[in-house]
Amino acid sequence: MKICVLPGDGIGPEIIAEAVRVLRALDLHCELEEALLGGCAVDAAGEPYPAATRSIAEQADAVLLGAVGGPQWDTLPRAQRPERGLLAIRQQLGLFANLRPAILYPELANASSLKPEVVSGLDILIVRELTGDIYFGQPRGIETRMVDGRQERYGFNTMHYSEGEIRRILRVAFAAARKRGRRLCSVDKMNVLETTQLWRDVASEMAAEYPDVELSHMLVDNAAMQLVRSPKQFDVLVTGNLFGDILSDEAAMLTGSIGMLPSASLDAHNKGLYEPCHGSAPDIAGQDVANPLATILSAAMMLRYTFSNEEAAARIEQAVRQVLAQGYRTADIYEPGMHKVGTRGMGDAVLAAL
Ligand code: IPM
Ligand code: MG
Repeated sequence: MKICVLPGDGIGPEIIAEAVRVLRALDLHCELEEALLGGCAVDAAGEPYPAATRSIAEQADAVLLGAVGGPQWDTLPRAQRPERGLLAIRQQLGLFANLRPAILYPELANASSLKPEVVSGLDILIVRELTGDIYFGQPRGIETRMVDGRQERYGFNTMHYSEGEIRRILRVAFAAARKRGRRLCSVDKMNVLETTQLWRDVASEMAAEYPDVELSHMLVDNAAMQLVRSPKQFDVLVTGNLFGDILSDEAAMLTGSIGMLPSASLDAHNKGLYEPCHGSAPDIAGQDVANPLATILSAAMMLRYTFSNEEAAARIEQAVRQVLAQGYRTADIYEPGMHKVGTRGMGDAVLAAL
């Protein structure tokens, strides 16, 4: 098992350290190799996804990533920003299928901003297309143009999806639904955008191949509303890159904290990049307060999806459930009466549970 480890920026190194401790404790004979991605790579090598990182990531079976970004890099030219590094590695490794499960642990029902009865038992999987859409569409840019007879700045991006891109992500989503509650909701904006009309048409055509899965369609604005109105109506949601970015942050909050949510980004052969859904949180970096559980749970997803080691994955998830049941809480999920711990303390608790 060759794993490329990319701590990244902000809280990235702290949360990755805890996930690495968990992996080592499992004695899985994995070979870990660290490399630079994001702002730290810009500082050290002048670009967010340097060739050295690229070759380590290409040769690895899986990539474990912390988070990238920070205010000190926000004013750089777009091609040198940390986020570009993340988009580049996703695209270069062909990681088109992003799986973002949103599960509410019963112990955290009060940490959600919604009423406990609305979220208790919540278990949703968002399948987000990750290498297409307006994120990568050309042409794009900011230019000075003649508009209504005068020169002014003009910003533009292009949304597009090919039938093949839509089919391959829908296949992942239908297959995932088959292993769960057999309900798939495809999210689009077909009332306005042609690209997503094609998305809906292709999804409907494919439904015949999956007679055991109940397919429904929802417009993205309604989906955003339904997610906070009655989120338990959903089993698997599938959508494009941009809508998936937004809806997955919303779904994360249903579970109490984005600090709890792992993700997997897979290619066609189960090679994957695993990262927490949250960002680099520069405001709390280096203070030992970040929640490492999303990253630890991402390592569990890695064992499950890339290394087919369900047993080890389940052990990690069980350990996480146990520390929550024991009352350990980082600041983001803390409630009075619980046992407040920092990043390292939470890692210690998970190790002890293991
Ligand atoms: C995510 C993040 C990224 C995205 C950013 C950091 C480029 O928000 O993984 O959801 O938009 O995909
Ligand atoms: Mg996002």
